[in-house]
Amino acid sequence: MKQIDVPLCVPDIGEEEFAAVKEVLSSGWLAHGPYNKKFEDAFCSHLSVPCAVTMNSCTSALEAALKVSNIKGEVIAPSFTWVATANCIVTAGATPVLCEVDPASRNVTAEHIAAHITPRTEAVIIVHYGGQMCQMDGIVELCERHNLLLIEDSAETLGATWKGRQAGSFGVGCFSFFPTKNVTTGEGGMLTCHDADFAARAKAMSGHGVFSTTLAREKEERPWLRAAEIPGHNWRMSNLLAAIGFHQMQRLDEMNAARQRLAARYDEFIGSELPMVKAPFVNEHATHVYQMYTIEVPEDRRNGIVMDLRAHGVGASVHFDPPVHLQPAYLDLGWKDGELPLTEKLSRELITLPIFPKMTQVEQDWVIERLKLACAGM
Ligand SMILES: Cc1ncc(COP(=O)(O)O)c(C=O)c1O
Repeated sequence: MKQIDVPLCVPDIGEEEFAAVKEVLSSGWLAHGPYNKKFEDAFCSHLSVPCAVTMNSCTSALEAALKVSNIKGEVIAPSFTWVATANCIVTAGATPVLCEVDPASRNVTAEHIAAHITPRTEAVIIVHYGGQMCQMDGIVELCERHNLLLIEDSAETLGATWKGRQAGSFGVGCFSFFPTKNVTTGEGGMLTCHDADFAARAKAMSGHGVFSTTLAREKEERPWLRAAEIPGHNWRMSNLLAAIGFHQMQRLDEMNAARQRLAARYDEFIGSELPMVKAPFVNEHATHVYQMYTIEVPEDRRNGIVMDLRAHGVGASVHFDPPVHLQPAYLDLGWKDGELPLTEKLSRELITLPIFPKMTQVEQDWVIERLKLACAGM
């Protein structure tokens, strides 16, 4: 086969998104506007939750979740995640307590969390890694028993379910629309929750602390009055990006189905031809939406395989190396190498292969061929 370039991810932008951007640009309403509500409503109906708030990133949504609840104590979160999961705890003025994950699913479990609960624990941020949800029953029960706020970092998992219920519909859900995610707006995020008052505070926090919207104020007697009731941020999503997000949501199921078909093809190839490579494990109660397709190889071969794939046009990568506790900022906070051995091993063994809804069979065949060659002799 002739070499072709296969990036890690290519965003799937449809005609509707192009048309919507043109429509919003022509309307003149570029900042937070009517499409934000449409995007939020589409999210609520997909997840079966009552409240959704558009934000400029998942990181902002995570920080909003903590600040709205005035969390200042300890927050338990897995170290095996993107650093944003922990950064939001520090920037909200709380203390991160980093824990292990289950190496098979790469997700945190109730047991991992329970090992770190102290009288100072106030919240838990779980991460649904790469498209598969955590085992929710034990986690929900634990958080309820200890009266802990449950935040679901669902940046990597939109549209997946646990026992039929959507990611982000158990606690406070936080989603990312970065270009590699299941839905993209370039940059962007969403907070979901069950409490209208919580949602109103998150929305105000994302809009300078003002509870009313520009649209709503236009109908009032003195529309220029903007009362800031809490010291807020500007974490809003623009109408332009919300329009893209709204149309992406209409195709979410179709895009996730394409990811699942590609994952099944990778699974089949790995199962039949590369017995030393571990394909992703899917829990029997979970559906997986493959925001990432990650495999495990022996750690002494991992870096060589990734570099070989990259040298031949395959945009392979690693998520996540280093884990959060070994990031320079967290080493400065006192975390040490060797403290979370399961996590550290996983971060030395994982490889993320390209997967995106519009990936062609020819592109996938190239990845498969190169993977086979890169793994030779294993
Ligand atoms: C698990 C996790 N949490 C949080 C984030 C941050 O998302 P955003 O870039 O939208 O702030 C990411 C993004 O990569 C992520 O993977």
